[in-house]
Amino acid sequence: MQKKVDFLVIGSGIAGLSYALKVADHGKVCIVTKDKAEETATKYAQGGIAAVMYSPDTYEKHIRDTMIAGDDLSDESIVRLTIIESTERVKELIEWGAHFDKTKTGRYDLGKEGGHSEYRVLHHKDNTGNEIIRALLKKAKEHPNIEILEDHFTIDLLSQHHLGVGVSRGMPDIQCYGAYVLCPETGEVITLLAKTTLLATGGAGNVYSTTTNPEIATGDGTAMAYRIKATIENMEFVQFHPTSLYNPNDKPSFLITEALRGFGAVLKTLEGEEFMHKYDERKSLAPRDIVARAIDTEMKLSGDDYVCLDCRQIDKNDLIEHFPTIYAKCLSIGIDITKDMIPVVPAAHYQCGGIKVDEYGRSTVRNLYATGECASTGLHGANRLASNSLLESAVFSHRAAMDAAGKIKSIEFYEHIPDWDAEGLVLNEEMILITQTTKELQSIMSNYVGIVRSNLRLKRALDRLEIIFRETEDLYQKSIISVEICELRNMINIAYLVIKMAQLRKESRGLHYSIDYPEKAPIKMNSRR
Ligand code: FAD
Ligand code: SIN
Repeated sequence: MQKKVDFLVIGSGIAGLSYALKVADHGKVCIVTKDKAEETATKYAQGGIAAVMYSPDTYEKHIRDTMIAGDDLSDESIVRLTIIESTERVKELIEWGAHFDKTKTGRYDLGKEGGHSEYRVLHHKDNTGNEIIRALLKKAKEHPNIEILEDHFTIDLLSQHHLGVGVSRGMPDIQCYGAYVLCPETGEVITLLAKTTLLATGGAGNVYSTTTNPEIATGDGTAMAYRIKATIENMEFVQFHPTSLYNPNDKPSFLITEALRGFGAVLKTLEGEEFMHKYDERKSLAPRDIVARAIDTEMKLSGDDYVCLDCRQIDKNDLIEHFPTIYAKCLSIGIDITKDMIPVVPAAHYQCGGIKVDEYGRSTVRNLYATGECASTGLHGANRLASNSLLESAVFSHRAAMDAAGKIKSIEFYEHIPDWDAEGLVLNEEMILITQTTKELQSIMSNYVGIVRSNLRLKRALDRLEIIFRETEDLYQKSIISVEICELRNMINIAYLVIKMAQLRKESRGLHYSIDYPEKAPIKMNSRR
């Protein structure tokens, strides 16, 4: 089956929906999403969205905090434009119906998280993402030009590859013509032709055994872009959130928002000793890379499986009022956060790198945009500042939408794409092989490519990855297309990019720490090296 739309949007998180709402006045939009539309990382965002709202905060302070967190690798011009546009984008979310908490005086109740020098995080209790998704989805469903294909999986992007034309990475004239999309219910693969395509597919936390990310986060967009030879960058910078709830049966790991530390919670050992002062003068509110590494060190020193977050000094009513989701979740496993310390461990949380884009979300492939977590805009550098991700998605989706809408009339459909070749077998043992290989992959990444890295660990990871890569490609060639085999293939692709880029970085910077190169290398003039 073939289908044609002006704007193809892959992903229904904040990046996909906010873009779709803007381009929908300029043509037909189809949003493809592999699960139910609300099932996104966006929905699980707790802390909130960072934006400069009132004095004494200033754009300059937010810019400085973002640059410091990025450890000299952020692109200052990108940081500047993102922060300067922050207030306008947040106001737009509010106009679209998202509610953020206010104080009794009617001003927005701003939170503070690690690395922020001012209170500037707008939030809706401790479930901000859910509120944003609610508002954006409602608007999108009301728009006559927007169609949402739920439970449809994008397999691959359409480009010159499908015409048998040889292309190499970085070539200026690679183009995107849409995507092959699988309807798992019928097994049909739709050739979805589009004038422009936006990848808004989110992150890849499931490459690791322990992650805060929902199951949908398997790096599909970044892997698809890589396969059509778009430029991918900064994949070595995987952000581990310092505080996910230690509850080994939970998948994904439940996040304990950094905003709780901004509200007065303090990290302690199981014995109740504070330890963050040994690592950074900002203590529990140092940037995430520092806090996650400190926790990792403390756990290794003590042999404990977790450290603790102590909220007992916070007023009980305030605590429950501001963090009702965390209170209820902890209570459900027997932890009363007003009386007990919360056991916490770091978990894979955010992909700072991804598909390289410019200031309009344009990738290196013509008519292919990327925004949100799958994109690398230059904002985060070597480490993302907390709550800058929702902001980045809103800013770059706006910019991408302006660019795409402006040129849509000048783009023609490309009609000569062959339909998907559905040849293949149903292999009885396929699911078992896929499940086992996924576990092997996650164990390789967690054991050898985690918070602390070394040359030996990275080599070991790559050697083992090569084996499962070959086995999985073999399985993929033989079997009928399925979501499971595609996701595994994509995760192997992501793991390869993380390991290779980690091997190339002969220094320790931001989220990439190597015991073989513990120092920072001199920075070159170009900040997006
Ligand atoms: P997502 O919201 O993840 O959406 C991805 C979409 O792509 C989904 O609809 C998915 O189905 C679709 N998709 C993926 N692959 C395919 C495919 N092959 N075919 C079809 N569809 C596909 N950031 C902040 O700034 N503030 C916070 O407070 C905050 N808290 C967080 C808490 C948690 C628990 C987590 C996990 C993240 C948090 N983050 C936070 C990060 C932030 O939520 C994400 O980076 C952001 O929401 C990503 O938005 P997105 O639109 O790029 O992707
Ligand atoms: C959190 O609430 O701690 C997560 C914020 C973020 O990832 O930006």
